[in-house]
Amino acid sequence: SKNDLILPKDFPQLKNDTFLRAARGEETEHVPVWCMRQAGRYLPEFRESRAGKDFFETCQSPEACCELTLQPLRRFPFDAAIIFSDILVVPQAMGMDVQMVAGKGPTFPEPLKEPEDLQRLQVKVDTDKELGYVFRAITLTRHKIEGKVPLIGFSGAPWTLMSYMIEGGGSNTHSKAKRWLYQHPEASHMLLKMLTDVIVEYLLGQVAAGAQALQVFESHAGILGPAEFKEFSLPYLRDIARRVKDKLKEAGQDVPMIVFAKDAHYALEELSQSNYEVVGLDWTIDPLSARERTGGKVSLQGNMDPCALYAPKERISDIVKKMLEGFGTRGYIANLGHGVYPDMEPENIGAFVEAVHQHSKQMIKQ
Ligand code: CP3
Repeated sequence: SKNDLILPKDFPQLKNDTFLRAARGEETEHVPVWCMRQAGRYLPEFRESRAGKDFFETCQSPEACCELTLQPLRRFPFDAAIIFSDILVVPQAMGMDVQMVAGKGPTFPEPLKEPEDLQRLQVKVDTDKELGYVFRAITLTRHKIEGKVPLIGFSGAPWTLMSYMIEGGGSNTHSKAKRWLYQHPEASHMLLKMLTDVIVEYLLGQVAAGAQALQVFESHAGILGPAEFKEFSLPYLRDIARRVKDKLKEAGQDVPMIVFAKDAHYALEELSQSNYEVVGLDWTIDPLSARERTGGKVSLQGNMDPCALYAPKERISDIVKKMLEGFGTRGYIANLGHGVYPDMEPENIGAFVEAVHQHSKQMIKQ
């Protein structure tokens, strides 16, 4: 039950809290760094663990999720770990079938087509029952990580999940999902509200299970313009953070929250005032102007172009130095502007992490 999850679990003491301090805008000895998709196919040990296994079955195994989460930490001195899972476990929990098809990506055999299809969805989702396997993965990983670094939990944001549920998979135009916004605004809001309610419970369950920070992925923000973002994304992002924070406060808890709305540079001001401690940035925003536009109100996370990892190591180091100079070393978490790609050199991810630590230590000493 919910109450069992809130009981203390005697987790090992946290040794490196640099990431958590930076999220709260506090001073640190170096700039913390982690990478979106740091657990991934670019690692041979990841490919080996995943070989011949169904993606979502892997997600449902707490032991497998724990192992995949820990793999990158054995290689690189990352300052945070993110639980291995996927954003599409939420539509699954609401009753939709989702499969990971090799060479194609996530696929919904029966996507939502018209508003009446909303009746197919589970409205009241028992997250302990439907997503308990994620909670168990988090609790297990919190033990096995031995307090090395904090563990980040996550969820997809309502609009991004809605777009997958209607498109049925990846898309260039997202025109099926966007058609709903223009043809069926009321049904769209109904779906976004349903998703928001599940996501709030899901994130709270992750914290109860041991997540020490939360990231909300609005990966499909860029296909909305400013007006549609303000109507169909931002209110739900705000509502999620407000409700999660209010509930945690009642329980005497406080967990930093990160919002990553990819390609939403047009909404940076709004995002910096949306109840999240940290705003994650993709590489299309200049660090200095991101700082100016967010007015020091939030910590920032990001935003090296993942493709810069194809550059030679010395060049990666120069790019990192410029990035650090742009963001400054306070209230900053270094990351990529999106996930690591499968064909990237593990060594270059190592060079990225080392460059962040080395340059930032020097900058902070001065
Ligand atoms: O290391 C981490 O970042 C934690 C694990 C994580 C995964 N997915 C594992 C994964 C996280 C945080 C996600 C989130 C996720 N999933 C997002 C939001 C982030 C983003 O990329 O914008 C999205 C859009 C998804 C949906 C999804 N899942 C896609 C588009 C894909 C890629 C499909 C492909 O074939 O490349 C996945 C699969 C997936 N999720 C993989 C991993 C490591 C690769 C497939 C595999 O391991 O077999």
